[in-house]
Amino acid sequence: MKTGISNRSQILNECLKALGLVLEFDLNDHPTHQHSVRVGESCVIIGDKLGLPSKKIQQLYFAGLIHDIGKIGVDINILRKKSTLTKDEYISVQQHSITGGRIAAAIPELSDLSFWIRWHHEKWDGSGYPDKISGNEIPVEVQVLSAVDCFDSLQTPRLDRDRYSLADALKIIIEQRGTSFNPDIADLICDMTDKGEFKPEESSERFLQLEKKYLINDAEDHGDNYWEGLGMAGLYPILRLFARVIDAKHGYTQGHSTRVSILSKFIAEKAGFSTSEIIKAEVAGLLHDAGKISIPHEILDKKHDPDSREWEMIKNHPLHSFHILNKISSMNEIAAITKQHHERLDGSGYPVGLLEDDIDILAQIIAISDTFDAITSERSYRKQSSFDNAYREIKNGLGRLYNRELGKILLDTPPVYIRALFDNHIS
Ligand SMILES: [Fe+2]
Ligand SMILES: [Fe+2]
Ligand SMILES: [Fe+2]
Repeated sequence: MKTGISNRSQILNECLKALGLVLEFDLNDHPTHQHSVRVGESCVIIGDKLGLPSKKIQQLYFAGLIHDIGKIGVDINILRKKSTLTKDEYISVQQHSITGGRIAAAIPELSDLSFWIRWHHEKWDGSGYPDKISGNEIPVEVQVLSAVDCFDSLQTPRLDRDRYSLADALKIIIEQRGTSFNPDIADLICDMTDKGEFKPEESSERFLQLEKKYLINDAEDHGDNYWEGLGMAGLYPILRLFARVIDAKHGYTQGHSTRVSILSKFIAEKAGFSTSEIIKAEVAGLLHDAGKISIPHEILDKKHDPDSREWEMIKNHPLHSFHILNKISSMNEIAAITKQHHERLDGSGYPVGLLEDDIDILAQIIAISDTFDAITSERSYRKQSSFDNAYREIKNGLGRLYNRELGKILLDTPPVYIRALFDNHIS
């Protein structure tokens, strides 16, 4: 019997896992083994117990990782509200299942999942949302996903309540057996808990066995032409979604990752880099700020300059980008670039204070595009500045902070051209 998955599926799997981490909405939860990862793992264990086909189990894992992706369309202030939601606010949160379904439907690799994500809040007795379907009208995969999601959510601390103990969460699942959940699946959750197959802090032994069977491919040669299109083809929609999620987590930087990517690709092209280097610059631009999820919103939202303790947290975000992206085996080089995107030639950057020769040339490109977009777009503690200011900043730092030749490429490009470049690539 064929076990494991194709190389391509593995890359997708890793991308979605990293996306699940970035997507996490409860950062006071366990830092490395978060809600979305636990839901994905539990879905695999139950899917295996039910004897679902391996393709469905793989998809169920993905669905577990990104089931709440539609929350990127919900006003962040509502998601962060500590008091009870108003009726309208509650309705807009419920919208996340529809939005999530639409996001998945737009990505070829995830289109099968679009129904599952849309229906992950449906209930066995038809009292869920958005379509109020019931019983076996709900696909069995969704019956698993919704029960596991609820079971794990109960044990995850929320803004308005503490976490439930494992025993109390189990009690609620049993109480809602036959109303919210398929009774057989509720029983499987009890069984799984009894056997210690559900672990809040780490992957269980059982999951690790099943991971080998369904989710891992041993052969990991991405080949020389990986970056030149073959390996990357088809991954772009996921990577763009990744960027959208990163930006959505911080409303004020909307489109930032995409613009940094477009500009970095442009500079790499004009500088005469190879095709694979150009693509790496583009992808690193999309993902460079993945680690920003590590910075608490209260700090990013401040209307004044951060204090020294807060700067310390901000300065660590490139390291977090590195750790998140390094989990994707085909993205190790990208991870290394993102780690250096705030380093400066004279050693005045962060997090390490590297000197020119030790900074990856592609990280030097991202540094320029990132600075440019940060100045020209609005930040919480600073009003939007003009293109003139951005050109001046880069010009003043040429050879000292920013690579002279690469910086000059940007300085030689008039604003009208840059605006058109963005407009051509952002619909
Ligand atoms: Fe949800
Ligand atoms: Fe950054
Ligand atoms: Fe950035």
